[in-house]
Amino acid sequence: PRKIIIDTDPGQDDAVAILLALASPELEVLGITCVAGNVPLPLTSKNARIVCELAGRDDVRVFSGCEAPLTRQLVTAEHVHGKTGLDGIDLPDPVMPLQDAHAVDFLIETLRAEPSGSVTLCPIGPLTNIATAFRHAPDIVGRVAEIVLMGGAYFEVGNVTPAAEFNIYVDPEAADIVFRSGLPIVVMPLDVTHKVLTTRARVEAFRGLGTKVGHSVASWTDFFERFDMAKYGSEGAPLHDPCTIAYLLKPDLFSGRHINVEIETEGRFTTGMTVADWWRVSGRAANAMFMGDVDAEGFYTLLTERIGRL
Ligand code: BDR
Ligand code: CA
Repeated sequence: PRKIIIDTDPGQDDAVAILLALASPELEVLGITCVAGNVPLPLTSKNARIVCELAGRDDVRVFSGCEAPLTRQLVTAEHVHGKTGLDGIDLPDPVMPLQDAHAVDFLIETLRAEPSGSVTLCPIGPLTNIATAFRHAPDIVGRVAEIVLMGGAYFEVGNVTPAAEFNIYVDPEAADIVFRSGLPIVVMPLDVTHKVLTTRARVEAFRGLGTKVGHSVASWTDFFERFDMAKYGSEGAPLHDPCTIAYLLKPDLFSGRHINVEIETEGRFTTGMTVADWWRVSGRAANAMFMGDVDAEGFYTLLTERIGRL
């Protein structure tokens, strides 16, 4: 199986991404590193463990990481995810422990210990942990196989400001470090995630699995939907973060362009914008595979089948 580390700020859609990974034998989750984002760090670190226990996987190692962006004040998103970050269903507090090591140390040690080019990073929150690890230990950068992240937008521009997507907006300096790392990066921006909407039929398919996990996913996507209903109407809400894991399982579901992407860190109105050179007008070298389209039916077929295994 392909070795991955999920870097996350759960979040209902993060939770579904974690479940998809844990349900998939093609992937070996070496660890889950938590970061402040949708909610503060103590909650994301707790939520990740709630999700592992829901999946019956209290053997997965969960690490707590950075509690604030590199240089900025933390911005959270309780208005989307609720006070706990995982509103929608009451699940028991986790019994499994948080690992002692800091998430950044785990990232560094794991990338040094595993064969070079064998570990893929899947960041689905602000990029603070990853950037901090790259800064503290530049030797690990070249050892990463690939980064497959959720963040940014081009045609769909912003969801937290008119110009910026949440994960990049929260820590643009960290995103800048990652996008300049020289590593192969696959980006799942809003352009993709706004196409995988939680329609009624799709939510009912989760519920129809008749399992606790299926019921939880349906309840989360129902909650998540309340916020986005006004925006997306009856089509439901975008299920952002699982797109990264789905890509690892079935890359053919997605299409995009290999282009240059710069992170705006000093904008007057556009801080956190992913300035994506979609039309290749800048002459700057490509640094990211920026996805633009997805087979939404194929995505939900895969996701529902995998969630049904848990
Ligand atoms: C991203 O922001 C968070 O609210 C979601 O979990 C997702 O990672 C979408 O902009
Ligand atoms: Ca997230």
